Amino acid sequence: MQPGFVEVAGLVRRRAGIVLTEDKGYLLETRLGPVLARFKLASLGALAERLRSLPGEALERAVVEALTTHESSFFRDGRPFEHLRGALPKLLSRKAAGERLRIWSAACSTGQEAYSVAMLATEVLGPAAAQRLEILGTDISGEVVARAREGAFSQFEVQRGLPIRALMTSFVQEGARWRVRPELRGMVRFEERNLLADCGALGRFEVIFCRNVLIYFDAPTKTRVLEMLARQLAPDGVLYLGAAETVIGLTDHLVPVPGERGVYGLAARRAAA
Ligand SMILES: C[S@@+](CC[C@H](N)C(=O)[O-])C[C@H]1O[C@@H](n2cnc3c(N)ncnc32)[C@H](O)[C@@H]1O
Repeated sequence: MQPGFVEVAGLVRRRAGIVLTEDKGYLLETRLGPVLARFKLASLGALAERLRSLPGEALERAVVEALTTHESSFFRDGRPFEHLRGALPKLLSRKAAGERLRIWSAACSTGQEAYSVAMLATEVLGPAAAQRLEILGTDISGEVVARAREGAFSQFEVQRGLPIRALMTSFVQEGARWRVRPELRGMVRFEERNLLADCGALGRFEVIFCRNVLIYFDAPTKTRVLEMLARQLAPDGVLYLGAAETVIGLTDHLVPVPGERGVYGLAARRAAA
């Protein structure tokens, strides 16, 4: 086994819920190089020793940041956004005048999912009604949250999943990067938040996206996170999970929406609670 593997894997599991298996050991070498340099540690063994003898918040955070995967793209997987396109007008019509429709992009990475929702809502509802949405993006990684707030993406990032028309209408070119227009950025707020923490203070959401993060957790952690999401979901709300994720066998608080893949709602008992 690689030196330091046990300590690093233990830390990442304890802080983020992420299970690092030994076959992913190669990630340690490639991703932790900059962390070793920043903290003046000679090797993974030295890192493990520091984690044992003198653990510190900054070092632990840097290790977790380095080992989380932040892969994302605009309108990723398509289907959830097509479902939301149909659901948005109905969900908004149920809100009283002056009330906001709340959408949470949990584990949002660099923000493509949250901005995709803002673009879709503006297209479907029109710019004025879309302002009645409150979109929150959260992630455990401070680095990606800072990037999401900036709302600036490379040519490569905007080429992945973004229709050319959306690029032209929703972004402004700034040198080599494309920045989301201010009116769309104003619809979205980002904050750092761990899904393993109590998220009760965030309140209830009509729509929650929590995609491509449960895959990194073990079954008890998936259950814990799904039950937290069920508590934050409004009674008629919609939860979108990633294509490789499910609630089946993990919780009976959430049930699949019949005929849809990756779309879930509260189980009747839970919705009535
Ligand atoms: C692969 S990305 C998915 C991004 C986006 N949801 C999507 O599907 O395109 C996974 C994200 O989950 C975040 N993450 C991992 N563990 C987390 C945790 N315990 N709490 C909050 N975010 C977490 C990572 O920092 C990363 O940005």
